[in-house]
Amino acid sequence: MAGKQEFYWRRLHSLLGVIPVGLFLVQHLVINHFATGGEESFNNAAHFMEQLPFRYFLEIFIIFLPLLFHAIYGLYIAFTAKNNIGQYGYFRNWMFMLQRVSGVITLIFVAWHVWETRIAAAFGAEVNFQMMETILSSPFMLWFYLIGVVSTTFHFANGLWSFFVSWGITVTPRSQVISTYITIGVFIALTIVGVRAILAFV
Ligand code: HEM
Repeated sequence: MAGKQEFYWRRLHSLLGVIPVGLFLVQHLVINHFATGGEESFNNAAHFMEQLPFRYFLEIFIIFLPLLFHAIYGLYIAFTAKNNIGQYGYFRNWMFMLQRVSGVITLIFVAWHVWETRIAAAFGAEVNFQMMETILSSPFMLWFYLIGVVSTTFHFANGLWSFFVSWGITVTPRSQVISTYITIGVFIALTIVGVRAILAFV
């Protein structure tokens, strides 16, 4: 009984990592990429997102609650999982371990990022190009953001690979090899978009 319940919790954890949290991540990085077009371009894109109807509903039910559940249950998985890279030095075992490590780094990064942007906005600060420029003018914060974004894109792309396995989409070894190439492509593309956006503020 307990085993069956855990199965459903893990399925939910897996699903939420892609829909909606993963989709939100992609959308968020694309909006940030408007910074490469200059201050006005970024501010217009950010303003458009702030003006969306049902903003608070979307933020709470499409972003905050799914991410909170994924993060809390993710921490439980990360600290109870058996990392066996010592026993088997295979690529997939490394990816299994890195998925957990990147989850924890992503959690620290996202918590801080939400605090200094979205929570600050709730207390009256204006989130715009200038705000990010000020934050990223500190070399420490610049590296913190670069590591945080790369950790998040890795976590999502590598998570996509295991998501396809978890949901029975890639069953054969051949389909799993193809999926490895596709998710490496996703990782590279999202990392370029994310890093270019950060560097546009510097
Ligand atoms: C932007 C934020 C995040 C995104 C887009 C995301 C996405 C994903 C995806 C797609 C998976 C694969 C699901 C599967 O294996 O079927 C996954 C797995 C995982 N995530 Fe996240 N995640 C995020 C944040 C976090 C955070 C903050 C933690 C906290 C530690 C975390 C911990 C984990 C763990 C441990 C797994 C492995 C689950 C397993 O092997 O069954 N994730 N994530």
